[in-house]
Amino acid sequence: MSISKAVNKNVTQNTVEKRLQIQRLLGTTQIVASSTGNDVVKGLTQTPKSLPPCYFYDDCGSELFEQICDLPEYYLTRTETKILQQYASEIANITGACELVELGSGSSTKTRILLDAYQQLGYPLHYLPIDVCAGMLESSAKQLLGDYPLLQVYALAGTYELALAQLLPTQLPSRMICFVGSSLGNLTPSECDVFFSQITKALQVGEYFLLGIDLRKPKQILEPAYNDSQAVTAAFNLNMLEHLNQRFEGNFDTTQFEHWAFYNESEHQIEMHLRSVRSQIVELRALNLKVNFALGETILTEISRKFDLNTIKQQLTAQGLLPLHVWTDPNQWFGLLLCQLQA
Ligand code: AVI
Repeated sequence: MSISKAVNKNVTQNTVEKRLQIQRLLGTTQIVASSTGNDVVKGLTQTPKSLPPCYFYDDCGSELFEQICDLPEYYLTRTETKILQQYASEIANITGACELVELGSGSSTKTRILLDAYQQLGYPLHYLPIDVCAGMLESSAKQLLGDYPLLQVYALAGTYELALAQLLPTQLPSRMICFVGSSLGNLTPSECDVFFSQITKALQVGEYFLLGIDLRKPKQILEPAYNDSQAVTAAFNLNMLEHLNQRFEGNFDTTQFEHWAFYNESEHQIEMHLRSVRSQIVELRALNLKVNFALGETILTEISRKFDLNTIKQQLTAQGLLPLHVWTDPNQWFGLLLCQLQA
């Protein structure tokens, strides 16, 4: 590398570092909701068995999820991205200058669409990504800072709950909390109520909440999205067992479990399970736990609820989050709602 190139690289790195702050809310690089594993013990000792979906997201799981987003069958990301591309400048015009807080930011791909819209209007760019995966948070923040010279990033590595409770007042006229990608669908109805109240506590009256949700549609479209032909979703599901092996000295053999996902039409949700292909005993030494599996026994690893627009609008309104605008795609497969906190 020539001297001038090396100097330039240092200048860019310097400015990137000055514009980036990362706060780890728990002291580990792989942060999950409970580092003690009590939730794993609880889930694996009850009938039917279940595991919290936060255990999907170690570095490998986060990478697999990025791959899922690009799959031809996984229409969610593509559809929401198109809606954002079409309406981002409308959103920026409504909110005016505001700090963007993103929950479960991952690679921050969709954020760029919003940042572009705020940048075009000449607004300052303040971005607060929140994610349990500290590695992904840091690498995507650095890429964004390289691409947006005026951007300030204050990243929080931790759970939504911890991060939302610690938000400092914004320096900009307003704030918008973005929860896109239909991650709301991974919460049960009661978790959803708790989550909305965390959102309302983190906002001031007049501030914004941008919510992306997957809408109800025939199971012929839904089921392939969670049973893709390249088996990336299967790898994502099975990786949870590898993650548990690493974290809790486990001996799950991933060849002895299979991915199983289907649409539960009465509950309006995809259910994702891991099914034991034989009877077996699995040990998690760090948790002092031995688990018996019968042949065909399942572990529920995730629900992915599919929403009705009118019902969710009523729920948001009841929580004081008034939907100002709803945008959808021509098929009405996905919805993007801009809500404002009422007095
Ligand atoms: C993160 N979440 C919105 C995804 C979903 O569609 O529920 C997680 C996922 N699970 C399997 N594929 C994608």
